[in-house]
Amino acid sequence: MTQETAVLSAKREMALESSAVRKVFVKTYGCQMNVYDSDRMTDALARDGYVATDVMEDADLVLLNTCHIREKAAEKVYSALGRLRELKKKKAGEGREMMIGVAGCVAQAEGDEILRRAPAVDLVIGPQTYHRLPEALKRVKRGERVLETDYAIEDKFEHLPAPDKAKTRARGVTAFLTVQEGCDKFCTFCVVPYTRGSEVSRPVAQIVSEAQKLVDGGVREITLLGQNVNAWHGSGPNGDKWGLGELLHRLSEIDGLARLRYTTSHPRDMDDSLIAAHRDLPQLMPYLHLPIQSGSNRILKAMNRRHTTAEYIALIARIKAARPDLALSGDFIVGFPGETDEDFADTLRLVETVGYAQAFSFKYSTRPGTPGAELDDQVPEDVKANRLERLQALLLKQQHAFAEQCVGKTIDLLLEKPGRMPGQLIGRSPWLQSVNVDAKSSQIGDIISVRITGTGPNSLFAEVVS
Ligand code: 5AD
Ligand code: SF4
Repeated sequence: MTQETAVLSAKREMALESSAVRKVFVKTYGCQMNVYDSDRMTDALARDGYVATDVMEDADLVLLNTCHIREKAAEKVYSALGRLRELKKKKAGEGREMMIGVAGCVAQAEGDEILRRAPAVDLVIGPQTYHRLPEALKRVKRGERVLETDYAIEDKFEHLPAPDKAKTRARGVTAFLTVQEGCDKFCTFCVVPYTRGSEVSRPVAQIVSEAQKLVDGGVREITLLGQNVNAWHGSGPNGDKWGLGELLHRLSEIDGLARLRYTTSHPRDMDDSLIAAHRDLPQLMPYLHLPIQSGSNRILKAMNRRHTTAEYIALIARIKAARPDLALSGDFIVGFPGETDEDFADTLRLVETVGYAQAFSFKYSTRPGTPGAELDDQVPEDVKANRLERLQALLLKQQHAFAEQCVGKTIDLLLEKPGRMPGQLIGRSPWLQSVNVDAKSSQIGDIISVRITGTGPNSLFAEVVS
């Protein structure tokens, strides 16, 4: 081979390599904010020629986007990494390389430990540095094991690609949009202030532009996300600070954006303008996730929630006065250190008083580094399990009662995706319930009027109202 042909063939090889389709498999654990981040990471990687795959075995890069909120969630990561190590070995035997990356809150909290415990991991990347992912992968290619868990000084959202039309279409007619990250509340059970850092709000212009792009891609319903979303205070066009109520007003002006939601909120950040938005904006859905965590004032104090049950109940009354058809969802923790039978009975009483359409409940999980972990008087596992069972039975009863009282009502339904039966679609009610109805797939994205005819274990049935 002459020198010239050697150079040519090397060039051809490089061209082939850069044009070769690389596949990324992303596994998302935890909350909706991780779902949003996984999509943004996939989009950032698409710029580098990666396409998403649902088949882990086919992937050149496997990314685990992890959750650290409870011990069980964090443990899942290490068992997944054990399985991935075997897959990586098998693929190496076949001459195929596979990179393994860990992202999300476990990456942020336990980055060094992951690299130590899991030698197959090539890359650990925290939630504030996702925009550096393509660069980090280049370093991995050069043989480095990369740890990127600084709180980035730059705004990751400025660097991550905004959703494009084609991908948005493929992802459906509802979308998440993160407007705020981090938390300054420091509830004593919670790792979020440590893993996601202090509160950061995205500016109005960035959010509006992203919302517009989503709508251009066919999205009809946007859920604004934040660890403490109603603490959002972003810069307006003139550098002035806006609150979430004002942001919702601005977003409601976008043509074609039919529905708005936001989650998760803290009771102390429900200000007057946000409550008024529930009265004034028909686009704002009558469903609010407003966790209280416990019904005992003693435990709320120990949790550093900085509100009482009476304040919470009064707040709900104010929001319901603004929007009478509002339904509530919440989060509860049972077995926080020092929780007595009487405290737990207070939680059951609070649930009876409020009445939830849906709620999530968890056994307290000790998180290293949080003040709760230092408390004496940890509650035994069997007591926690028993309380959780009783609380969940009550919450499930309320959820069914809420579904039952929808029967016979005529409601607006956003048609979302194909149902299980041919000729059937699944839609979303204003209260976030899945509703099965006979409709054509060309109607996906439409909002139609339906009458609820019955309930199933996890969904409702409806007929079209002509
Ligand atoms: N143990 C159990 N549940 C927790 N949550 C947060 N931290 C813990 C913990 N250490 C729950 C809270 C929160 C939800 C996202 O997870 O209820 O609202
Ligand atoms: Fe955690 Fe929510 Fe409390 Fe913040 S407000 S510390 S995210 S539970």
